[in-house]
Amino acid sequence: MLLAFTPTSAALFVVVGVGLFWYFRNEKAKLSEEREKERMSQSFGRPNVGGPFSLVNCTSLPSSSEKRFTHEDLLGKWSLVYFGFTNCPDICPAELDKVTAVVDELRQSHPSLPLQPVFISVDPARDTPSTIRTYLSDFHPSFIGLIGDHQQTKSVCKAYRVYFSTPQDADPKGDYLVDHSIFVYLMDPEGRFVEAFGQVAQKEEMVDKIKHFIVEWSRHSS
Ligand SMILES: *[C@@H]1O[C@H](CO)[C@@H](O)[C@H](O)[C@H]1NC(C)=O
Repeated sequence: MLLAFTPTSAALFVVVGVGLFWYFRNEKAKLSEEREKERMSQSFGRPNVGGPFSLVNCTSLPSSSEKRFTHEDLLGKWSLVYFGFTNCPDICPAELDKVTAVVDELRQSHPSLPLQPVFISVDPARDTPSTIRTYLSDFHPSFIGLIGDHQQTKSVCKAYRVYFSTPQDADPKGDYLVDHSIFVYLMDPEGRFVEAFGQVAQKEEMVDKIKHFIVEWSRHSS
């Protein structure tokens, strides 16, 4: 049967086409995130993500001495850790908005849950404590911003299996992009890695999973 070319069938054709395009795009993104997650996991057990680090707490206002923030400061709280940079045009703001919404929602259902969103800069050449502080003021007020020197940044990224690459001849005053992996890491109150949420993870999915992890965790640790 030949389908008559009517405005309706034409519209349907376009709608189906666009739908398929988004579907496959989403599937492709999911697949590459799955692969990246597999890379993060060891062959058995808990993925080996996280570890010792020592960075500057950008959130504490400039006082006499700079405040360090280390892996030990993650203890006793659930943390949502995101790596990014303040010149990041749209991905970072979208992810930080998502984390903000997740924190807001969890604060409502679990008012006494110790939960801390953390932003770690992957652009030590351009980001500073004050640019990070200003940048984070657009997102959840409980965000802690962290920055290190190049070596400390490399080492925290290595610990979290975060890939980042700054262009070779990057001019610190220039307008370059830092290529980096996009994951929000959930760490439990013992500072252990629980889950990595990729860009395709929606707010609801994150909230549901985190609620589930909280229940699991309290069952194991009681
Ligand atoms: C980092 O700074 C914030 C804001 O001053 C503060 O609430 C938090 O306790 C600090 N964390 C550490 C480990 O210094």
